[in-house]
Amino acid sequence: MIKKCLFPAAGYGTRFLPATKAMPKEMMPIVNKPLIEYGVEEALQACMTDMCIVTGRGKNAILDHFDMNYELEHQISGTRKEELLADIRAILDKANFTYIRQREMKGLGHAILTGRALVGDNPFAVLLADDLCIHPEEGVLAQMVALYKQFRCSIVAVEEVPEGEIHKYGVIAGKALTDTLVSVEDMVEKPEPGTAPSNLAIIGRYILTPDIFDILEKTPPGKNGEIQITDALLQQAKSGCVIAYRFKGRRFDCGSVHGYIQATNYCYENFYVEF
Ligand code: UTP
Repeated sequence: MIKKCLFPAAGYGTRFLPATKAMPKEMMPIVNKPLIEYGVEEALQACMTDMCIVTGRGKNAILDHFDMNYELEHQISGTRKEELLADIRAILDKANFTYIRQREMKGLGHAILTGRALVGDNPFAVLLADDLCIHPEEGVLAQMVALYKQFRCSIVAVEEVPEGEIHKYGVIAGKALTDTLVSVEDMVEKPEPGTAPSNLAIIGRYILTPDIFDILEKTPPGKNGEIQITDALLQQAKSGCVIAYRFKGRRFDCGSVHGYIQATNYCYENFYVEF
């Protein structure tokens, strides 16, 4: 039902400089697979087939990754090393990739609005590849699609975050519907210390209804002078419904060095099979 997944991937990734000077943050490997490939696999698992990627300058490695490399394929053809390409080949068989460039980095809300030309007038998912989410049976986007079928409104994934960390996130508050669902009534982007309305932080998974685009068109720059998706979502919540969902699974903030190292260790210990 939801076929399109938007990947805002235009950010500079300054926390990983100098690694990200010429290499996209989304191409940083967790063990031997780039972050964005994990994201695409999660979207495929949720039955999404159209990967819409918002890129910027210096991001061409993402386009090359999701394409054939005939020279390399020829070089390893018939050898055991072909096994190492099995996952990416499976992705290329199942998914379509489209790209659009965000020319100025005006924030996540602006990146999502830039994706409008790729997404069209349909509900769609947004996946921030630097949040790596792992659940052994059902990926977080698949969990959220099931909820979308029930509520037919925008859904944001949230996680409880310690008080000392909450100022780094968009934070929601609202009426609890169940243990895992909250009907959103308030949303604050990166609250000042001591002012967060709850400890529930929005992470990089969203299902959005397409009316968000008209709202984003009218959303002025907010925190840090950027167009914030949280400001647009608050508008949507006030005029309709937005659901916050405490997802099942584990999330690693791979936009930070600490989270990146934790994810690497976790994936190495749990999934890596020596070649
Ligand atoms: P971040 O806040 O993590 O920024 O963006 P960043 O540039 O990626 O990383 P740092 O903070 O400089 O280290 C959250 C997500 O939104 C995308 C980023 O690519 C990332 O996936 N984004 C952000 C855009 O696509 N465009 C923007 O203008 C801003």
